[in-house]
Amino acid sequence: MKTRVLHTSSFVGDAAAIIHDAALEAIAARGIFRLSLCGGNTPKPIYAELAKSTDIPWAKVQLTFGDERCVPPDHDQSNYRMAKHTLLDAAHVPEGNVFRIRGEIDPETASLEYEQKLAHVASRFGEERYAHDLLLLGLGEDGHTASIFPGSPALDEKVRNVIPATGPKPPPQRITFTLPLINAARHVCFLVNDPAKAGMIDEVIAGDMSRPAAHVKPASGHLTWLLGS
Ligand code: 6PG
Repeated sequence: MKTRVLHTSSFVGDAAAIIHDAALEAIAARGIFRLSLCGGNTPKPIYAELAKSTDIPWAKVQLTFGDERCVPPDHDQSNYRMAKHTLLDAAHVPEGNVFRIRGEIDPETASLEYEQKLAHVASRFGEERYAHDLLLLGLGEDGHTASIFPGSPALDEKVRNVIPATGPKPPPQRITFTLPLINAARHVCFLVNDPAKAGMIDEVIAGDMSRPAAHVKPASGHLTWLLGS
């Protein structure tokens, strides 16, 4: 695994460029770009910037969500709603290309349904586990990523790809990618643009395994930290 830590004063532009370049590379190589979107506030301007790209063939992009809050898709805390308002509508991403986690139904049912959706695509590619070309992650001040929080049973999940989760960051009930699915990605990119998280970033990169984000080690891919300064 190759880890790179990039500091930038052009955080939004550089993040959008990483995603843009990964898209064109994947589509050239495999005819499709499988991208997982992260939630929270950090990615909002990045998705809006990405939507301005004129040369990404969105019909060849498959979008998943690294986690979702257990709320309806029109709820102001929905990660899907955030992506819809910043990227999906502006870029006219075909609806069939967006794999929405149904946060409005029973979490275990929604998790199993999502796992089946990913497994169907993975089987088409001969993959044991769905392999994202690029998987975006945020970082919480407690070292959580996706909806894998400190002390979470999700930290010990070795089989499942998508599971229900709870955490201290409201809303508490969520659905999250597991570490096996995250680590199956070709490339994982943490996007962090908050000086208050500098100490936590150092702890995670130093390998403090009490921090969930430190468990992100893509087996056959690359790990990027894009840090706004
Ligand atoms: C979520 C995210 C979560 C987020 C971090 C950082 O659904 O809340 O997946 O992991 O990425 O908490 O959030 P901010 O970008 O808002 O700081």
